[in-house]
Amino acid sequence: MRIAVIPGDGIGPEVIAEALKVVKAGADVFGRKVELETLPWGADHYLATGITVPADGYALLRQFDAVLVGALGDPRVPDNRHARDILLGTRFELDLYVNHRPVKLLDERLCPLNGRSTADVNFVVFRENTEGSYVGVGGRFKPGTPDEVAIQEEINTYKGVHRIVRHAFEYAAVTRRTRVCMADKSNAMVDGHALWQRVFAELSPQYPDVQPRHLYIDALALFLVQDPSQFDVIVTNNLFGDIITDLGAALQGGLGVAASGNLHPGRTSLFEPVHGSAPPLAGRNVANPVGAMLSAAMMTDYVGAHDVASAIEAAVQQAVTERQGTKDIGGSLTTAETGDVIAQIIRNADRR
Ligand code: NAD
Ligand code: IPM
Ligand code: MN
Repeated sequence: MRIAVIPGDGIGPEVIAEALKVVKAGADVFGRKVELETLPWGADHYLATGITVPADGYALLRQFDAVLVGALGDPRVPDNRHARDILLGTRFELDLYVNHRPVKLLDERLCPLNGRSTADVNFVVFRENTEGSYVGVGGRFKPGTPDEVAIQEEINTYKGVHRIVRHAFEYAAVTRRTRVCMADKSNAMVDGHALWQRVFAELSPQYPDVQPRHLYIDALALFLVQDPSQFDVIVTNNLFGDIITDLGAALQGGLGVAASGNLHPGRTSLFEPVHGSAPPLAGRNVANPVGAMLSAAMMTDYVGAHDVASAIEAAVQQAVTERQGTKDIGGSLTTAETGDVIAQIIRNADRR
C-alpha cells in the first residue's frame, strides 16, 4: 500500500507517529509492504512558505492508495486558512463524499452515561462531506462596520444527498444493521432539507430489510444521550454530522478514541481521527493516539489489508480494556508508550 501521510499541527504529529508504529507492526506480521510519503503540509509550512497546498498537491494525493492525516489547526493561523485548503480542500477536490465515523464504545467504564454496556453504544454516522454549509458560497459585505452583512449559503444537491443516503442504506444492508436514521432540520430549513426528505422517501422502499426513521437533528441529540442503543446507522448533512460526531465521541470515551474515514468508494480516500490539533495537549506526549490508530485501521481495511486492520483493532481493544493507555482512558502511559504497547501486542499475538 502507498500512503501519503500529513501529520499536520499540534498533537497531529504525535498521534500519527504512534498510528504508523501499529501499521508497521501489522504490516510486518502479515508480510505486507507499506510505502509512506510524509508531506509537510500544515501551519509551520504555511507560515514559512505562504503555501497551504502546493499547485499540484491534490493531484499528488490521488497517486496514493490513501491519505492519513493527523490534525490541522493552529492558533497562529486564526482564519484557519491552511486547514481549509488541506483538509476541506482535499475532501472537495478528491470528492470524498462519505465521512464515515463509527461510534463504538470499547469499554463500559469509558461511557459518560450511567449503566451503558458496550453493546448499547455501537453505531455509525455517515456525514455528507462535500456540500452543505461547507461549500464556501457567500461573503461579507461592509465587513467590520455596523452595517456588516454576512452570508454563508448551505448547498444541498440531489446528487449529493442521494449518494450519501444511498451509501448509508447500502452499508446497513451489507453489514446487517437493521436501522437507518436520517436527521435533518426540515421543520425550519424547509427548502434545503425538503430535499433530504424527498431522497429518504425515495430510497427507503428500496431497502425493505432496513427500518427507516427520521428525526430532527435536535431530537437526535437528545435521544443519543438518553438511549444510544436505538441507533445503528445515522445519516445527516455536513454540519450536523460534524457536531453529532463530537457528541458520539463523548459517548465512546472522548475525542481521543474516535476515528474517521473520508471516502469516495473505489478512489483514494483520507483517514483521520475525529479530534483536532488540541493545542493545550500539543508537545506534551499526553494525547491519546487510539483515534489515529483506529483511523489507520480503517485505512488498511479500505486498501484491502483486512488482516492488518483486524490486528490493530484487536490490539487497541485489548490495551484499552487493560487500561494500557493515556490518562483519558484511565491509564498512565504517554502517547509514545501507548504506541509501543499496542505495537507489541500486535507483534506478540498468537495467530496459530
Ligand atoms: P480538539 O479536537 O482539537 O480538542 C478538544 C479537546 O478534546 C482537547 O482540548 C482535549 O481535551 C480533547 N482531545 C482532543 N484530542 C484528544 C486526544 N487525542 N487525546 C486526548 N484528548 C483529546 O478541538 P478544538 O480545541 O475545538 O480545536 C483545536 C484546533 O483543531 C482548531 O484549530 C480546530 O479548527 C482544529 N480541528 C481540526 C480537526 C481536524 O484536523 N480534523 C478537527 C477538529 C478541530
Ligand atoms: C472535523 C473538523 C473539521 C470539520 C474542521 C477542522 C474544519 O471539525 O473534521 O470534524 O468541521 O469538518
Ligand atoms: Mn469536527
